[in-house]
Amino acid sequence: MYTPAVVSVLAAVAAAAAVGHQPDKDGRYTISAPGIKAQFIPYGATLTNLFVKDKKGKEVDVVLGYDDVDYYPIDPGHPVYNAIPGRYVNRIGHGRYTIDSQTFLTEQNDGNNTLHSGTNNWSFRDFEVVGYTKDSITFAIHDASNSSQGMIGDVDAKVTYSVAGSTWKIHMEASSPEALTPIMLTQHTYFNLDAYRDPKTERIWNHTLYMPYSQRYLVADDGALPTGEIGVAEPGSINDFASAEGIQLGHASGTPEFPGNCGAGGACEGYNGYFLIDDAPEDAVVVSLASPFSGIKADLRTDQVGVVIYSCNWFDGSGPLKKTQGLKNRTTVTRSSCVAIEAHDYVDGINHPEWGRKEAQLTGPGETYTWESSWEFGLL
Ligand SMILES: *[C@@H]1O[C@H](CO)[C@@H](O)[C@H](O)[C@H]1NC(C)=O
Ligand SMILES: *[C@@H]1O[C@H](CO)[C@@H](O)[C@H](O)[C@H]1NC(C)=O
Ligand SMILES: *[C@@H]1O[C@H](CO)[C@@H](O)[C@H](O)[C@H]1NC(C)=O
Ligand SMILES: *[C@@H]1O[C@H](CO)[C@@H](O)[C@H](O)[C@H]1NC(C)=O
Ligand SMILES: *[C@@H]1O[C@H](CO)[C@@H](O)[C@H](O)[C@H]1NC(C)=O
Repeated sequence: MYTPAVVSVLAAVAAAAAVGHQPDKDGRYTISAPGIKAQFIPYGATLTNLFVKDKKGKEVDVVLGYDDVDYYPIDPGHPVYNAIPGRYVNRIGHGRYTIDSQTFLTEQNDGNNTLHSGTNNWSFRDFEVVGYTKDSITFAIHDASNSSQGMIGDVDAKVTYSVAGSTWKIHMEASSPEALTPIMLTQHTYFNLDAYRDPKTERIWNHTLYMPYSQRYLVADDGALPTGEIGVAEPGSINDFASAEGIQLGHASGTPEFPGNCGAGGACEGYNGYFLIDDAPEDAVVVSLASPFSGIKADLRTDQVGVVIYSCNWFDGSGPLKKTQGLKNRTTVTRSSCVAIEAHDYVDGINHPEWGRKEAQLTGPGETYTWESSWEFGLL
């Protein structure tokens, strides 16, 4: 005869079996393949650690994060470290958008704009683990209608992370069975391919970036909101990462454009902008980030039409590095010492029908939003 206690133990065992093995004692879920090991937590569906091999064959943790998983929800800086913001990432201009002549007002939580859907953004929420094997994990989230102000209709989304060889793959799906609503997702991944261990520099400027299909970019105002204008980066100009392989992220440092290229009236140095991916062949590498110090190269493939490049201007040294990163005398994340690379659709495309992306950014009954990217790691 089963006592209630036995029943609940059996139920727990059955639930555990349904999602494969269990997280470690710190609450991290690990997946691995021969050339890569990735760890996650349900908070924000966050990638906490990503280990790949450097030119000496040593494991390097190439993404930012915290040792203490309990720090993610309380960190006042909340840089959206390798999490999934949603249901509509990045900015919505002036906190409003219109569908079929109905205007929806969203929360103005970033100046006059909406950032990452407002204060109920997914990167601040616990996802549910609904699948877990040795090389893959799936998280799910239910986003109730209007829980982010002005985002109408329940949305259900799933993100599956998997690894194979030395590649990390990300697949997302979302549906909105009740109403047409803006859905635009990303994996907000922050890299430093040297794990802050290059004694000569912790800055990101000596990493190289190659985006062969990204000559065009969205011109933005001081609040990082696109103005509507599309710029073209001429070879050698500050936003040029398309004309040649091996251009350093800091290639324009020292020029008058560098402080101010990412807005804030000249207070933001480097990059925080959206680059279009034009006419890339299917399965082409669209972004290649590399660092000569570690010799590590990270190649992005994506089905998305553009990518945000943010060179970590707003870090001020108040956040800690992980123990897998840094040096004895280097323990915090300082200004311009990392780069976030976020593949997604055109920023604020729902307010710019002239770009032709508005329809792709709205998902409604009977439709499934999908997003897929992979990062393949290798050596220079
Ligand atoms: C926000 O909007 C108000 C009212 O339209 C305007 O006065 C103000 O300059 C705007 N602020 C920013 C940062 O754009
Ligand atoms: C996201 O939501 C959290 C929790 O409500 C809030 O503190 C934070 O300011 C929001 N993020 C942004 C970018 O608004
Ligand atoms: C959505 O929530 C806001 C408050 O955050 C409220 O003013 C508005 O009426 C709600 N909209 C709908 C359609 O429920
Ligand atoms: C930190 O130590 C390294 C040697 O490990 C040295 O090259 C570097 O200059 C030091 N940096 C600071 C800020 O003291
Ligand atoms: C590293 O980047 C800085 C800033 O762009 C540059 O001045 C320096 O020459 C670079 N160092 C190397 C070794 O390329």
